[in-house]
Amino acid sequence: MTADARKTTLDALKSHAKTAAPADMRAAFEADPSRFTRFSARLDDLVLDYSKCRIDDATIALLEQLAIDSNVEARRDAMFSGEVINTTEGRAVLHTALRNRSGKPVMVDGKDVMGDVQAVLKAMGGFAEDIRSGAASGATGKKITDIVNIGIGGSDLGPAMATLALAPYHDGPKAHFVSNVDGAHIADTLKPLDPETTLVIIASKTFTTIETITNAQTARRWLVEALGEAAVGDHFCAVSTALDKVSAFGISENRTFGFWDWVGGRYSIWSAIGLPLMIAVGAENFGRFLDGAHAMDRHFAEAPIRQNLPMLLGLIGLYHRVACGYASRAIIPYDHRLSRFAAYLQQLDMESNGKGVTIDGTTVETPTGPIVWGEPGTNGQHAFFQLLHQGTDIIPVEFMIAANGHEPDLGHQHQLLIANCLAQSEALMRGRTLAEARRQLKDKGASDPDADRIAPHRVFTGNRPSITLVYDRLTPEALGRLIALYEHRVFVEAQIFGINAFDQWGVELGKELATGLLPVVEGKDAGGGHDASTLGLVKTIGDLRGA
Ligand code: F6P
Repeated sequence: MTADARKTTLDALKSHAKTAAPADMRAAFEADPSRFTRFSARLDDLVLDYSKCRIDDATIALLEQLAIDSNVEARRDAMFSGEVINTTEGRAVLHTALRNRSGKPVMVDGKDVMGDVQAVLKAMGGFAEDIRSGAASGATGKKITDIVNIGIGGSDLGPAMATLALAPYHDGPKAHFVSNVDGAHIADTLKPLDPETTLVIIASKTFTTIETITNAQTARRWLVEALGEAAVGDHFCAVSTALDKVSAFGISENRTFGFWDWVGGRYSIWSAIGLPLMIAVGAENFGRFLDGAHAMDRHFAEAPIRQNLPMLLGLIGLYHRVACGYASRAIIPYDHRLSRFAAYLQQLDMESNGKGVTIDGTTVETPTGPIVWGEPGTNGQHAFFQLLHQGTDIIPVEFMIAANGHEPDLGHQHQLLIANCLAQSEALMRGRTLAEARRQLKDKGASDPDADRIAPHRVFTGNRPSITLVYDRLTPEALGRLIALYEHRVFVEAQIFGINAFDQWGVELGKELATGLLPVVEGKDAGGGHDASTLGLVKTIGDLRGA
C-alpha cells in the first residue's frame, strides 16, 4: 500500500463528501437524465444501481484512485492465487477454489487443491443422493425425512440462510437448523421429529465449539434413547476440518466430509458445510449455486474497477462509512426468502471487518466495518423505516428485488412488492419539503393554522442514500452470485481499511471468560477474580434457581 498516496486520496474524499458531493439529489437527477445509466453496473441480469447515493464523477474518480492507492487489485489477485493473505493465522484464503468451475488448478503450498475439492464435492453428492433416494435409510430401514444441522456461526448461518432462500427447489428431506446452546433450541427442534427418520449433521470447522458439541451430545442421547447405541452410525454424519476429533466422537470416515483451514467459517457455505442445502435441493442445484458464485468471482477478477460490482459496492460502502461517517448499513431484501440474508451478512461483514488494528498491528486511522442489520421488505416498512426516513441518523440502505417471483399465479403481489421497494428508495432520495407538506395538507382541506402546525412533522429531508440490486429471479445461480458479491465487497473494504478480514480474535475473550465462569455458575468455584457485578448476577441467578 502506498500509504502517503492513500492518505492524500482519503483526505480528498472526506473533504469532497463535505463540500463538493451533490447535496440535492432531486436536482442531480433533474440535471442529468442519464444519471442511472452512468451510476449503475451489471453482470448478466444482476444490476447494481448506486445512482441514488450522493456521488458524482469526482467521487467515483477519487474512489477508484483510493482502490489503486490501496492495491486492491493486487491483493485480490493474491487471494485468488492462494497467497497467505490471512497473515495472523498464517493461511491462504481460498473459498473461491470451492466454486472454481474453470478446470484450472489452484495452488496452495505448491499443491493443486482442486483434486481434493472435487473429491469432497463428489462424496457429498453421492451421500446427498443416497439420503434423498432412501438408499441410505435410518437404522430401522425407514427413509430419512428430516435432517437436523447442528452448528453455529458460519457452520449454521450460511446453510440456514441458503436453504430458506432456495425453498422453491426443495425436493429432499426437510432441513432444520440448531445453533444456540440454549436447550430450548434443540428441544423445540427435536420435539416433532421421529428419530427413526432423522439424520443429524454435526457441522463444525474446529469440532471444538462448545455450543455445537453440547447440542450434538444432546441429539445423540435423544437418538440412543429411542433406537439404541448401534443406530448412531446410520443417523449421524459430520462436516469438519478436524477429522481426528470427528472420529473420536464416533462418526465413521465415510460419513465425514472434510474441508480445509484455507476456508474461513463465514466463507464456508461452498464447502461441505453446504451439505444440508445439497440434501434439500439436490447436487445439481447445489452445482448451480456454485456456478453463480464462480461467475461473480470471474467478474471480480477481470472487470475494470468502474464496471466491477464488488469493487463498486465496496467503494460506495467505504465512502459512506469513512467519508460520510455513517455508522450503520441496512440490508433490506424485498425477497422474503432472503429473510436470513441480513443475519448472514452480519457475520460475514462484522466478523470480517469489525477490527481496530491494521495488518501491521497499528491502530487503524479510519472507522472500519459498519453495523450491518436488516429485515425483509415490506415488513421493515411497518417497523423501523420511520427512523430511516425521518430519524436523525443517516443509514444507507441496500435494497434487493427480483424482477420475477416464483409464484406466477400471484403476479399482482409481486408487482406490489416491486412498487414498494422502488418507492422506498425514491422516498429516501426525494424527501418532501415543508412547502410540499403544507400544500398537501391544504389540498386535503386543512386550515392554515393546522397546516402550519402539522407540516413540519410531515417533512422528509431526502438525500438519503440507497443502493438497489435487481436480478431476474432468486435461482441457485442468482443466490450464489449475490453471496459472492457481498464476500468480495467485504474484501474490497478491508483492503482500504488496511485490516485482515479473515481472522476473528474478537470472539476469543468472551469464550475464555465463559469457560472460566461455568464452574462459578455451577457453584463449584467461588469466583475469585471476577468483578462484583458478575458475581452479583451469578448470586442473583443462583438464588432464583434455588441453588
Ligand atoms: O466464534 C466465532 C466462530 O469461530 C466463527 O468464526 C465460526 O463460524 C463459528 O465460531 C463456528 O465455528 P466452528 O465451525 O469451528 O464450530
